[in-house]
Amino acid sequence: MLGNTVDSWGTVAKLLHWSMALLLLIQLVLGVLAVAWPLSPAKLNLFIWHKSLGLALLLLVSIRLLWRWSNPVPGLPPTIPNWQRQASWVSHLLLYFCLVALPLTGWVMSSASNIPLKVFWLFRLPDITAPDKALAQMMKGVHFGLVVLFVLLLAVHILAALHHYFVRHDGVLERMLPGRER
Ligand code: HEM
Ligand code: HEM
Repeated sequence: MLGNTVDSWGTVAKLLHWSMALLLLIQLVLGVLAVAWPLSPAKLNLFIWHKSLGLALLLLVSIRLLWRWSNPVPGLPPTIPNWQRQASWVSHLLLYFCLVALPLTGWVMSSASNIPLKVFWLFRLPDITAPDKALAQMMKGVHFGLVVLFVLLLAVHILAALHHYFVRHDGVLERMLPGRER
């Protein structure tokens, strides 16, 4: 089943969720490595990988949001208390916010620093702001702040998924796993 139903995620949503989870893990490691690496051609290459993958993730999250809006979203089981429904809604909204804001702030930072934005060494993307040192510095701080927010949200997200599996036994984790469509 490609699309979602009212109580189950479809193949497309699962594929997007898990491929993005894997790529985001790589992206976080690439970002930390690129910043920590001593100045060298390898550092510049790490940044090209980081920026390119970040922009690919922006494309993926756009597809994911369009797919979500054109599909039913599975509801939570009736046993879930109201505050947990609200917490789930807010945390998913914030996760999507980070997934859009991280690449956009990265793109602004790169443009404002006047560094050509090469995508996988294939083509160059246009700058979205004029060179501006103060803006680049500010975006560095915002990008870092978003990284911290994202990692905290992810920790809560993973703990919540494990709570559903080990404590509540309500099938919420299972319905996001491959091959469990009802
Ligand atoms: C989902 C997408 C992204 C994630 C999760 C992410 C994550 C990170 C992380 C973990 C770091 C290292 C910590 C820090 O200093 O902030 C970093 C740094 C950086 N990122 Fe990203 N990033 C993303 C997208 C992008 C994009 C699309 C660009 C540029 C087009 C970009 C440009 C940069 C730059 C230039 C730095 C170095 C900042 C500095 O010098 O402190 N990032 N990013
Ligand atoms: C970078 C990693 C991850 C990101 C960005 C992420 C993001 C999201 C988002 C935004 C949703 C909401 C889907 C929607 O309403 O459209 C979601 C759902 C879900 N995620 Fe993740 N996730 C990640 C990793 C994980 C991991 C590691 C687990 C399991 C341990 C997990 C388990 C789930 C489950 C079970 C759902 C479905 C919740 C439901 O059915 O209501 N996620 N994820």
